[in-house]
Amino acid sequence: MITKRDFHTLFSLVFARHRGATHAARIENFYGPQASGYDAFRWRILHGRSELYQSLPVNAGEVWADFGGGTAQNFESIAQFVPKLSKVHVFDLSPSLLAVARRRAEERGWTNFVLHEADVTSETIAETLKPASCDVTSFSYSLSMIPNWFLAIERALEVLKPGGVIGVVDFYAARRYPDSPKQVQSWWRRTIFPIWFAFDNVSINPDYVPYLSERFETIHLEIKRVRLPKTWIYVDYFHFIGRKK
Ligand SMILES: C[S@@+](CC[C@H](N)C(=O)[O-])C[C@H]1O[C@@H](n2cnc3c(N)ncnc32)[C@H](O)[C@@H]1O
Repeated sequence: MITKRDFHTLFSLVFARHRGATHAARIENFYGPQASGYDAFRWRILHGRSELYQSLPVNAGEVWADFGGGTAQNFESIAQFVPKLSKVHVFDLSPSLLAVARRRAEERGWTNFVLHEADVTSETIAETLKPASCDVTSFSYSLSMIPNWFLAIERALEVLKPGGVIGVVDFYAARRYPDSPKQVQSWWRRTIFPIWFAFDNVSINPDYVPYLSERFETIHLEIKRVRLPKTWIYVDYFHFIGRKK
């Protein structure tokens, strides 16, 4: 059922303003008006997030850095485990989404949470976290919102310890001739979806999976198809879990 808050979020989404002189300004103009309804609404359309966070190989006492972590809702799926982590660093450009994350951490008593309003492609990341200081990094539907996504992956590599883990979930588009038959997509899917999502400032790039596979040792790669609620539209997303070589 569509609630009043859903309607408001949907309205903000459809009439979202992507205006602003910088990426940070465009992001906040887009997310600011939707921040209060973000969790409930996105939970139904951004699939595979809980599965990714639950399946990452992470141990008690380790340090996790979430890149483009937004409201930090994904940590709800491992809520019992969160207090056992030494630190959880959440980086995001949107102060409105981070305010929701801050409230969540306070309500949950997650004193190990550190929230950073920062661009994950900037050198600030390397200044905030020492090189090779993290055990796990994650990107949940954030690569597709970061123009220099390859630089964001390089920042994650910098802060990961050797043998550290990266987990990524995002929309999937295939190259015309992908490496494996499992990665093939029809012309229609790999052409129409990137164009459609681009209206919402989401760039679905066919190079995500090849780039991640090149930079990390692949532990797990899976492409899944899911139906958007209340529609006959199916979208593809991928899970990538890799280890720093
Ligand atoms: C679709 S949301 C996903 C949020 C969250 N990871 C989730 O799964 O709900 C994309 C997020 O990426 C953030 N983002 C986009 N570009 C960024 C950048 N350059 N640096 C940091 N965060 C960025 C946005 O502010 C937003 O929170």
